[in-house]
This record gives sequence, C-alpha cells and structure tokens, in this order.
Amino acid sequence: MANTILVGAQWGDEGKGKIIDVLTEEADIVVRTQGGNNAGHTVFIAGQKYVLHLVPSGILRPGKTCVIGNGVVVDPVGLVAEIDGLQKLGVKVDGNLFLSETAHLVLPYHRELDAQREALKGKNKIGTTKRGIGPAYGDKAARTGLRVIDLVNAERFEELLRQRLRENNEVLKAFGAKPLSFKKVHADYRAAGDRLRPFVTNTVVLLHEATRRGDDILFEGAQGTFLDIDHGTYPFVTSSNTTAGGACTGSGVPPHRMDRVVGVMKAYTTRVGEGPLPTENAEIADLLHGLGREFGATTGRPRRCGWFDAVATRHATMVNGIDAFAVTNLDGLDTLETIKVCVAYRHGRDKFDYVPSDAATLAECKPVYAEFPGWRTPTTGAQRWKDLPVKARQYLKAICELSGAPLRVASVGPGREQTIML
Ligand code: GDP
Ligand code: IMO
Ligand code: MG
Repeated sequence: MANTILVGAQWGDEGKGKIIDVLTEEADIVVRTQGGNNAGHTVFIAGQKYVLHLVPSGILRPGKTCVIGNGVVVDPVGLVAEIDGLQKLGVKVDGNLFLSETAHLVLPYHRELDAQREALKGKNKIGTTKRGIGPAYGDKAARTGLRVIDLVNAERFEELLRQRLRENNEVLKAFGAKPLSFKKVHADYRAAGDRLRPFVTNTVVLLHEATRRGDDILFEGAQGTFLDIDHGTYPFVTSSNTTAGGACTGSGVPPHRMDRVVGVMKAYTTRVGEGPLPTENAEIADLLHGLGREFGATTGRPRRCGWFDAVATRHATMVNGIDAFAVTNLDGLDTLETIKVCVAYRHGRDKFDYVPSDAATLAECKPVYAEFPGWRTPTTGAQRWKDLPVKARQYLKAICELSGAPLRVASVGPGREQTIML
C-alpha cells in the first residue's frame, strides 16, 4: 500500500470518503491534513450511512489509527458532536483517534464573519459552507489564531479568547452583527477542550514514528484541486492547499516519504458554491437530482452538475502528480444515450488544454466536446471489470487516458462492495 496521498481531482465531493474507506483496508493510519468541517465525506457500510466532517473516514475500519493533522482547522464543538454521533452508531473512537496540538481552532466569530462577509459580497459571494474556514485560516496566516494546544491550557485559553473576542466583537459590530458573549463561547469551548484533551498529541512525532516502523499511511484530502487556494479558481476556492503538497505541510511528513498520489474523480463533474464550471449542463443536473443524487453532504445544497471535464482533470494530474485514478459514480451515467467529455476549452480564438488562471477567463471558456456512446445498462451490480458493459469500460479507460494516469478503482455505487479494483 505504501504512503498514499488521496486528492480530489475536480471541485470536491468526488467520492473521496468512499474510496478512503476502501483503501483503508490496506493502510495502518489515515490522516486529514487540511480543510475543516466544510468537508463532508460519505461512506455507506452495510446500508448504514456515515458522513464524516473532521474525523478521517478510516475511523470506520476497526483497528486503524486516525489522525487530524496540524493543517486542519478544527471546530472543537463540532468535533465533539461528530465523535458523539459516531459513538452512538457504535464506532470506536477512543484510543484510535489523535488530534494535532498545533491544529488551529475555528471559533464562533470565524463562522459569524464568514456569514457576514458573504452577505456583504452579495452576488459576488463565494458560496462558502459558512463553517468559518476562510476567517480561521486568515487568522492562522495573520498569526492571530488560537490552536488546540491553547484550548487544552485553561488559563491561556481564557486570556487569548478574551483578547481575540474583544477585537472580533468590534468587527462584528461594524458589520451590524451582534457581538458574542465571552461567557457562552468560553463555556462551550472549555467543555469541548476538556472532552478532546485525551485525543490531543504531537501528531508529527506520532507519524514520524509510524513511518520509521514502516506503517502505511493514507492521506485523506478534503475538497478538490480546483478549490485549492493557490491552484483553484480563485477567489471561488477554499482557504487551504487541497492539492498533494498540502498533505506534507498539513502533517509534517516530508515529501520524500510519499510514495504515490491517487486522484479521485467522478465520471461527470459537480461543484457546490459559486465560480466557473465550464461543462455545467442542465440535462445532467436534472437527471442526477431527479435520482435524488448530488446534494451537498455538509450543507444539503444541490450541487451543480456537468459533463466530465478532461481539461480540468489533466491539469489536476499535473499539479498533484497523480499516479492513478479512482473513478466514482459511473452508475450516474447508466441511462444516457450519448455522453460528452470536454477535451479542450475555446476562448475566442484561443484554445486551452489546461485550466486558465483567471476565473473570469475560465467562465467565458466554451467546452470542446468528444462524444461517447452510452451503455444504457445498470452497472451498480458489477463486481469485476469484466462485469461492466464494454462501452462503460471504454468510457472509463478514455477519461483516464485523457486525464493522464491509469485507472485503478472504479466505483458503481455508494456501498463499500460496489467497488471494482483493477
Ligand atoms: P467526498 O466529499 O469526496 O467524500 O464526496 P461526498 O461524500 O461529499 O459525495 C459523494 C457522493 O457520492 C456521496 O453521496 C457518496 O455516497 C456517493 N458515491 C460515491 N461513489 C459513488 C458511486 O460510485 N455511485 C453512487 N451512486 N454514489 C457514489
Ligand atoms: P469535500 O471534502 C465541495 C466549497 C464551498 C465553496 C468554497 C469555499 O466534501 O469534498 P469554504 O466553506 O471552504 O470557505 O467554501 O468551497 N467547498 C466544498 N465543495 N466539497 C467540499 O469538501 C467543500 N468544501 C468547501 O461550497 O464553494
Ligand atoms: Mg463532500
């Protein structure tokens, strides 16, 4: 299995949670390295649905170690609720979940500022998940953030919270919003801090010792390549590095310890929130929403849908160094007569075979499509490669070839067992 970085090759929600769950069978440790509870990773096991936001999706495999790394922004109250929810479903969390002491905290003023800034942007809003992610990473970069290590030190937390709340309440007042009560925030966070204390450790040392022992580590990316703060469709992005490099900085495991990068992509494209999506298409959105699919796992918002965009996924291969692909949601295309795949963008007289840097230019790009015949057969029961219709196999091979790396996993349903390994 070796040390594997798993990244989303599109705009998030590629099915990373499901693929992580499958690959965890071969891993010893699963690590989240960026993002926060803006992520929603769905796993179905024996008909039971689990949605993970901060806890790595590997937690559903008994005996595996799960780590929330230093690069993650942690809402402690949200994390406690998530842990409680998992325990209620019979998932063991104590003793196998570890939380980095240097991960930054998401505080209530981050969430409030996220909402206020979005409202102020009006039609130019990003469409964030309103989980306070941008303001929390903003504080981290401005060196005004609070960290897990501060939360578990009662005296220091109280002092720092008092300071930060004073400033942030002034900002909230300027927005015309209600200031936050120190007493309430302090009580909620102290309770969460007490509850989380047993999970907190130096995860850099933990992971370093694990690599020395020869443990296999799976790095669970959140969001997707085009939501990356540097490589995405800025400003319609999240505030962390969602691409492969983020796995190193967000965990403290150095680049030369990484063995391979797996890209996860849907057999079509989705995006939730604002920003350009060149292959967006009403027909495919109606089809998928009509099937009750493609609603956000975190916010419940309907996801925008489009044809597979091979320009984007090829770009993702370049930025992440993707060695192999896992393609999910093949079954979403089962009923179509003809399937389109974007192979280039046209912009006036220019033609792009990579994703242009300027979101405004990308929004003006017109996809150049290749057409593939649909297989018009249900694929959800396929167990092996040869169970898939020939046209479905041809489609999968073609989109991976266009994306620049071989196919290793094909997923034909949300369940663990609906997975074909090549
Ligand atoms: P993530 O954020 O990348 O983990 O993806 P999400 O969980 O937000 O969204 C992916 C959705 O697709 C979830 O509802 C999954 O249960 C579902 N899913 C994943 N793979 C497949 C598949 O092959 N077929 C179907 N029908 N659903 C899938
Ligand atoms: P997973 O890990 C899809 C999107 C939001 C918004 C933008 C910024 O489940 O793939 P943020 O709250 O991060 O400031 O929002 O990023 N976004 C996601 N879209 N999947 C996600 O995570 C996302 N996390 C954030 O919709 O457009
Ligand atoms: Mg998701």
